Amino acid sequence: MVETRYWKVDHEVTSDHPFIQEAAKLIQSGQLVAFPTETVYGLGADARNSEAVQAIYQAKGRPSDNPLIVHIANIDQLDGLIAALPQGARELMQQFWPGPLTLVLPLVEGAVSSIVSAGLSTLAVRMPDHPVALSLIEAAGVPIAAPSANLSGRPSPTRADHVLEDLEGKISGILDGGKANLGLESTVVRIYEDGRWEVLRPGGVSIEELDEIMPMAFSATIESQEAIKDSTPRSPGMKYTHYAPKGDLIVVEGLRTNVQHWIGVQLGQKKEKSEKTGVLAFDSPSSEYRKADHVIVLGSDLRIAAGRLYAALREFDELGIHMIYSEACEETGLGRALMNRLRKASGNRSIRV
Ligand code: TXA
Ligand code: MG
Repeated sequence: MVETRYWKVDHEVTSDHPFIQEAAKLIQSGQLVAFPTETVYGLGADARNSEAVQAIYQAKGRPSDNPLIVHIANIDQLDGLIAALPQGARELMQQFWPGPLTLVLPLVEGAVSSIVSAGLSTLAVRMPDHPVALSLIEAAGVPIAAPSANLSGRPSPTRADHVLEDLEGKISGILDGGKANLGLESTVVRIYEDGRWEVLRPGGVSIEELDEIMPMAFSATIESQEAIKDSTPRSPGMKYTHYAPKGDLIVVEGLRTNVQHWIGVQLGQKKEKSEKTGVLAFDSPSSEYRKADHVIVLGSDLRIAAGRLYAALREFDELGIHMIYSEACEETGLGRALMNRLRKASGNRSIRV
């Protein structure tokens, strides 16, 4: 057990703030500090320090073949980290950094601990769009390796209390900068030498937005379970079920009225068996859901829905819900990332009614 320092900071904090300085010193001395980003909270360590990086895997209980994203605060930090900038990479950085886009680029061997990239010849890099994150990286003066700050297998944390729930006593500090705005992780994009690119993980920047900057010479999205099971996964993290609720989750797709009616019937049957049920709705809750023990409305605005998803999943767990029925949203724009996370949480259990 270590004492977990807790610092509440303003969104507009700068790198000279005493709390940021304290947190930065801990990072420099090889400790783990959690911090907010615009996507989810990250668990940071000095990317060059193998012991520190190893401690991240240990604290999270993360499989060691799942590489980490390195966070930088300015473009100059790429010097010495990245061996070459493939065609188009600079345009993407200009357009989306700071922001929820992670680029997988050729790594300069030895630039960071080999544990960060899990032995791959590429490095995932991003510049987060959050003053607390940027101030911390700047003050620490080192590239910061950071996965989401949850225990492996739990939903990513969108608030400081989620981080404490999972990691208090295992990490040296947490900067509380309020709720992570976006609520879903960054989009991970691999760019090849010749400018071809593919989305390895859908996220905060949509494929449609990427396509505007780099029209699809070649692109693919690894979303299907088939691709995830590929023997040499290109984004190792995608093969793990990131989060499985304590109860079962099933995604119900189809015409809205059919979906609501079908869920209503299931709720009735579960009630007879005294099983606790929950519903995740995108629209205002239907009267069909009155037999549910707990209904959470994510909202039909996908930006808002994304921001609420992970907290909602944690809430169902806390309430000991046995069975969660989730509505689906359209798989375009941010909806692609949302449905990707829902499908993963359900272990790919969905039904079309
Ligand atoms: O929004 C985010 O990306 C958050 C915040 C904290 O920045 N971080 C995050 O990290 O989601 P994590 O570790 O939970 O997910 C990193 C993903 C994993 O799917 C991992 O396999 C993939 O990025 N990844 C990392 N390095 C890679 C590489 N060199 N090649 C392919 N995929 C890589
Ligand atoms: Mg994660």
